[in-house]
Amino acid sequence: MDCRIVTIPGDGIGPEIVREACKVLDKVAQVYGHFFHYKEVLMGGCSIDAFGVPLTEEALETARQSDAVLLGAVGGDVGNSRWYDVAPNLRPEAGLLAIRKGLNLFANIRPAYLYQELANACPLKKEIIGNGFDMVIMRELTGGLYFGERYTKEVDGVLQATDTLTYNETEIRRIAVKAFDIAMKRRKHVISVDKANVLDSSRLWRKVVEEVEKNYPEVKLEHMLVDNCAMQLVMNPGQFDVVLTENMFGDILSDEASMITGSIGMLSSASLNESKFGMYEPSHGSAPDIAGKDLANPIATILSAAMMLRYSFDLDKEADAIETAVQKVLTEGYRTTDILSEGCTKVGTAQMGDLIAERI
Ligand code: IPM
Ligand code: MG
Repeated sequence: MDCRIVTIPGDGIGPEIVREACKVLDKVAQVYGHFFHYKEVLMGGCSIDAFGVPLTEEALETARQSDAVLLGAVGGDVGNSRWYDVAPNLRPEAGLLAIRKGLNLFANIRPAYLYQELANACPLKKEIIGNGFDMVIMRELTGGLYFGERYTKEVDGVLQATDTLTYNETEIRRIAVKAFDIAMKRRKHVISVDKANVLDSSRLWRKVVEEVEKNYPEVKLEHMLVDNCAMQLVMNPGQFDVVLTENMFGDILSDEASMITGSIGMLSSASLNESKFGMYEPSHGSAPDIAGKDLANPIATILSAAMMLRYSFDLDKEADAIETAVQKVLTEGYRTTDILSEGCTKVGTAQMGDLIAERI
């Protein structure tokens, strides 16, 4: 198979983790007889340095012409960076929002899975962890507060800022359909998270999700209020299979879910549109403090590459091979600093990539 992959290394640890993911993809190509053609584009702070904007039209167009995008991370140290002394729409993160919207990547899939090998790093008590957990957060990614009208103005001498939260039924339906589709391939249980006791947008969300449910008689649907969900995630994480939620709630809950896996350095993510096209990236940020020191954990990006093979290229066997290789390396006791525990072998970013590639 021939696949055109646009890589966006981005800032901070982005370039080094994308390099390792490509190393693993190259091994997959070699073993399974595929051809991955890479094209690299700039986004985030590096694009601001080169072109004065976090995402150029050309970069967006190049991504649009590809079969899938593999992204590292964008952004720098917010408190201390030339990239942040500019208008919000020119900051590195604006590039990320622009590419999500520009490629219509409305469905953000964030798995949160507890590796038994890393159970020690999980901050929850053993009795709460039980047999572990394996959930997928389905976050709506191109609507809601992130993309609503916003402005700041002075009213009677007092500054006032406004952000608006809007969803229409089409936006809700398409993300709900993706969530139910994914649930059908898993344990067939969707928990839809909203704030229907307060928000109109949540009441519409519930109504549309219930309409979609009618087409999936095998899937069990539950509704949960977002504040309760935040609590349930740390009280009984094993109850979740697919969590379906809007943009802002999904942003917050996916950080919480990642934290209970022990390390955000392990979590992959995929952002999809209506077709097979997707952008794949680790759930973590650019970690500028450890950039270039061979300390970053490349596993989240490598697992994101596996998601790319599965969702965009239908290469399930190859995706399994990557996931199995990651599992093996962990079982054999290799760890980057962020997931290091007693008795394990500490390795750097590049060596972790080598070890995983060797096991494909
Ligand atoms: C994420 C990040 C982004 C978001 C930021 C960097 C804009 O936190 O992908 O979760 O809020 O969506
Ligand atoms: Mg976030």
